[in-house]
Amino acid sequence: MQGGPAGPGGQRAPFKPKNLKVLPENTDLRAVMHGYEAALGVECEFCHVAPDPATHRSDKASDANPMKDQARAMIQMTDDINRKYLTLLSKNTPTYDVKDAAVTCGTCHRGQKHPAAFVPPPRPEGERTPGAPGNPTTAPASGAPPTGVAPATRQ
Ligand code: HEC
Ligand code: HEC
Repeated sequence: MQGGPAGPGGQRAPFKPKNLKVLPENTDLRAVMHGYEAALGVECEFCHVAPDPATHRSDKASDANPMKDQARAMIQMTDDINRKYLTLLSKNTPTYDVKDAAVTCGTCHRGQKHPAAFVPPPRPEGERTPGAPGNPTTAPASGAPPTGVAPATRQ
């Protein structure tokens, strides 16, 4: 179903972006923009101006929402990480291919606008030093040999 009036050829004019400052002209904007939504867990209006209540249309070329420029900085940063830095890895590891392991918005954002700080999980009980306070494995099961390893037996 056509959304707008058909032109003379029965086709709508192809969409031409008016205000791209960092993405290449030939970007598949539909795919890329839906990717941003998913990576950050947001809607278009997080970065773009809100739609006009009467027409339900929003001017995606407008830069009135300051979040759009924040996103531009992030697009450039992500591109730099891949082009300038991850490509350095292939100098030392020829099998490394940045195309297989490129950093994306989702690498950091993981569905959140503000990526959560990483807190390492507690180490499994068994990795605690034997005899350390609070280590429930300190007490050997009845009949079992002591769990502590004598320093002399270490390599
Ligand atoms: C995380 C922020 C973000 C989200 C979410 C987002 N966009 Fe964008 N969008 C941008 C940025 C930044 C640009 C400009 C890129 C540039 O300057 O090269 C842009 C540009 C565009 C353009 C080109 C406008 C023009 O004429 O220059 C369209 C169309 C567009 N977005 C549509 C959408 C739609 C539709 C959605 C929701 C499905 C969406 N965007 C979600 C950040 C976002
Ligand atoms: C290397 C990790 C990393 C990557 C890759 C990354 N971001 Fe971010 N981004 C962050 C961090 C960290 C913040 C700051 C979060 C905060 O303010 O709490 C942030 C903030 C933002 C903000 C501003 C949010 C706000 O409320 O001010 C936007 C928009 C954004 N990122 C979009 C993107 C987009 C789009 C991409 C992919 C093109 C991207 N980010 C890639 C780490 C990243």
